Amino acid sequence: MTQTLDRRRFLLSLAQAGVPLAAGSVLSRLGYSQTRAQVTRVSVDSARYRTDIDPRLFGSFLEHLGRAIYTGVYQPNSPLADRNGFRTDVISQIKALGVPIVRYPGGNFVSGYNWLDGVGPKDKRPTVLERAWNSLETNQFGTNDFIDWCRLVGAEPLLGMNFGTGTVEMAVNYVEYCNVNRGTKWSDLRRSHGYEQPHNVRYWCLGNEMDGPWQMGQMTARDYGRKAVDTARQIRVIDRDVRLIACGSSGTNMPQYLVWDREVLEECYDQVDGLSLHAYYGNTQTLTGNSTARYLAMNLDMDRQIAEAEAVCDYIQAMRRSSKRLWLSFDEWNVWYRARNGAAVNGNRAFAPKLLEEVYNLEDALLVGGFINTLVRNSDRVRVACLAQLVNVIAPLVTNDTGVLRQSIFYPYSWALKYARGRVLDLRVESDTYPIRAAGLQADFARNADVPFVDIVATLNPGNGEACVLMLNRDLDAEREVILNWRETTPTRALACETLTGSDLKAFNTFEQPQRVVPRPLEPPKPGSQMALKLPPRSYTVMHLATS
Ligand code: AHR
Repeated sequence: MTQTLDRRRFLLSLAQAGVPLAAGSVLSRLGYSQTRAQVTRVSVDSARYRTDIDPRLFGSFLEHLGRAIYTGVYQPNSPLADRNGFRTDVISQIKALGVPIVRYPGGNFVSGYNWLDGVGPKDKRPTVLERAWNSLETNQFGTNDFIDWCRLVGAEPLLGMNFGTGTVEMAVNYVEYCNVNRGTKWSDLRRSHGYEQPHNVRYWCLGNEMDGPWQMGQMTARDYGRKAVDTARQIRVIDRDVRLIACGSSGTNMPQYLVWDREVLEECYDQVDGLSLHAYYGNTQTLTGNSTARYLAMNLDMDRQIAEAEAVCDYIQAMRRSSKRLWLSFDEWNVWYRARNGAAVNGNRAFAPKLLEEVYNLEDALLVGGFINTLVRNSDRVRVACLAQLVNVIAPLVTNDTGVLRQSIFYPYSWALKYARGRVLDLRVESDTYPIRAAGLQADFARNADVPFVDIVATLNPGNGEACVLMLNRDLDAEREVILNWRETTPTRALACETLTGSDLKAFNTFEQPQRVVPRPLEPPKPGSQMALKLPPRSYTVMHLATS
């Protein structure tokens, strides 16, 4: 009898201990441990921080694709255009967002792009058949126009080079055109186009998704790595201050995923600064089994992809006995699964066709909030990231002839830009979890895992003492209470507290009903060293605090 009881007790204690242990292996890297308690407890110690956020973490992306450029940011015949042809309503939105860096001109587009077609007098620029999206490209908007536009909205340019149909020579000349002051063939050409001062573009992508069979000029990893190292060496003669980003795997589902990254870096590690990552997510039968509970856990797939890319970079660093540590550029990420095939990706030789015009609903916005959290907690390694894209094409902003609409995903992105500043705090979180199962799903995303109901990150700006807490409640049915225990720093005032939630996860905004998915104020908890707040079910919440 005693023996049976002891055995039972032993098994029970094993099972109890097993919960945090099993969960710990997946979650401990994120600072999480598992609890069965309903309440999520968070230790926020301002003396423990991971890194200072590089503002480039919240960048975006504009490609010559569909209506992103033409009718998105540039529409000279619109009453809303300024004297340069730029849409002023879009400029106001982007200025208000404070987008720090914008990647341009592609994407797949860049792999067939001749940058010379887009500079110089507009009446001399050719109209060409663009082959990535089968569209007409008039070249009325090009590099100098983009730089002008960036200066207007206060964003830094991140330029991509054509590694598909383009030569090393073309890529190197592009840098000379943009960054050399004067007295050389390409810098003087820029000056003749009316730009006396160099653009001093610091961040450059060495091609785009060169592993993809859809990419013009797709290459093997070795060929790409050799072209990248050759280009990079020549560029550094022209400008030693540039930051060069090599193409990493274009997705976790690629057959050569991580092998590509390793081989590329074996060729070009010493000459590059960052490695790119891309990922698009969706609530589909193959990815999630159409389960929103699984869908809202997909930002943890992004966490894992980052960890895997880091591991490859560090492996190469160790093999080369190099003191240089590469950073990551997650320069395409978003939800994208509805407008992803057929007419949505084929321009049919039209000018500014309607392509990739994904309509975002509430659950997409919640997951985008999750992605923001993932980027924040990995920002020691991810120094650049771009929400793909910015206007009309898989975008938070959509234009029509009379104005601009904020899609649901605009809001989590805007909170990150507005509030997440300074240091990323190293939180300790105890959260209840729910299981997700891999059976029958696409292998690269599917894992059996225990997912915390509450996903939380916090930043503290030492400059002004302001803190920001961003929280995703993945519980679809119930409120979740969060208790924040602050150490070293104490909140003194809630400056803002807002939540994005609703009863219909599939609700979306339209020009007719632009307010269906918008944030609403949430009663902030009393400020102090312990703060308790209740997160609504299926919600993403921001709290902005003054601290002492
Ligand atoms: O952002 C849309 C497309 O997705 C980009 O052109 C390409 O790089 C990626 O496959």
